[in-house]
Amino acid sequence: MSRLIVVSNRVATNTSKATAGGLAVALQAALKESGGMWVGWNGNFEEAAQPRPEISSAGGVTYATFDLSRDDYEDYYNGFANRTLWPLFHYRTDLTAYDRRFFEGYQRVNGFFAQAVASLLKPDDLIWAHDYHLISLGEELRRRACKQAMGYFLHIPFPATEVMVTMPNHLALVRALFAYDIVGFQTESDLRNFADYVVFEAGGEITARGMIHAFGRTIRAEVFPIGLDTENFLHLAKSAEAKRYRTRINKSVGDRDLIIGVDRLDYTKGLRERLEAVERLLEDYPDNRGRVVMLQIAPASRTDVPEYIEMRHELEGVTGRINGRFAEFDWNPIRYLNRLYSRRALAGLYRASRIGLVTPFRDGMNLVAKEYIAAQDPRDPGVLVLSRFAGAARQMQAALIVNPYDTDEVVEALQRGLHMPREERRERYKTLMANLRRDDVYAWRDSFVAALEDAREDVDLDLAS
Ligand code: G6P
Repeated sequence: MSRLIVVSNRVATNTSKATAGGLAVALQAALKESGGMWVGWNGNFEEAAQPRPEISSAGGVTYATFDLSRDDYEDYYNGFANRTLWPLFHYRTDLTAYDRRFFEGYQRVNGFFAQAVASLLKPDDLIWAHDYHLISLGEELRRRACKQAMGYFLHIPFPATEVMVTMPNHLALVRALFAYDIVGFQTESDLRNFADYVVFEAGGEITARGMIHAFGRTIRAEVFPIGLDTENFLHLAKSAEAKRYRTRINKSVGDRDLIIGVDRLDYTKGLRERLEAVERLLEDYPDNRGRVVMLQIAPASRTDVPEYIEMRHELEGVTGRINGRFAEFDWNPIRYLNRLYSRRALAGLYRASRIGLVTPFRDGMNLVAKEYIAAQDPRDPGVLVLSRFAGAARQMQAALIVNPYDTDEVVEALQRGLHMPREERRERYKTLMANLRRDDVYAWRDSFVAALEDAREDVDLDLAS
């Protein structure tokens, strides 16, 4: 079997701080059974950063990590990745910043990653690059004469062409994707957007079997929806820590109903509108006053990016206003926390919640929706209220699917969830769980790696001919 080299911006080593994104957790699960190597930034800065990775290993996985310089962090991570690509790919053209320095920094750092990866490669390796930080990695590796089979997976949405073309460097970026042999997306609609772009903007064409041709190369483009390490999460939900958290929250909430939201503090997550929906729930259905508690956990993220700083202030204002308006001396409708909790603790909190409220305006997949379901008590499960704009909605139609722009609809779904009979909750839970068991993170990894293996055979044939 060939060695799998996973490359991502962030690497979740045992020593790195807990991360709040689904990507790191999923990759850790994907690598842990198959071994392989995980390459990326260690989260530290060093002015004279070198693409010479430091190697360590734990749990069968080899980690190869390196520092970045402050300038790289500013131009590539805070700049092009998080002020250009992130807002643009989530349809926030109003927040998207363009600066040539950002793009140059992005290309430079992708080259730096490529140098680090190239120094580790063996001829038979399979390379799997992840997410919007590393679109140009494949191109940079090819430039360094790497012939290995290479795949790329985009964890966030791929936007509609009309949105994509607002970015000055759109063509260069999509061309870079054609250096890979396989490009994977979370949903059909991401794949459709990509194919539309290639056909209508780049003059490419779709050839048979999901193959797509442009810029002189034919690559495979396919949907691979990411899943949970479901068995492991079921296990975490039964841990002593999870039970401790469940007991604590049950004690503090009493016989009231708990609604839970867990998101990185990010403008794509629809947090203000979500809190306002809870406010409307109290306004329109006064029986809920004193009876419902919303627990919103929102660990701060990308704290050097101005939009995130602004958003944090905004949410503090909204929470204060709603609590000021409705709270009683012995009840607060909203508990808002910027802390990061362990996954075991979250599993306990999910299980204690009558409703999981997941209402992003755009989201590649959203693994919180999946974790909320996996943490439930099968005999008395809670209800998931899920935005149609999360990739997860495709596979989770048995949730209450809502349009987060339509506050009335969200409020009605909350009210319906709070009163849903146990039988209906169990039916929905069963359907959702069957899907989480089948389409788990291992199925995701296996199907992508199988596609990469196929691509390698084609590469071998090309080299032989
Ligand atoms: C999203 C992205 C990931 C990222 C995570 C956390 O899930 O798709 O690539 O790692 O957010 O964001 P951060 O900027 O802290 O890595």
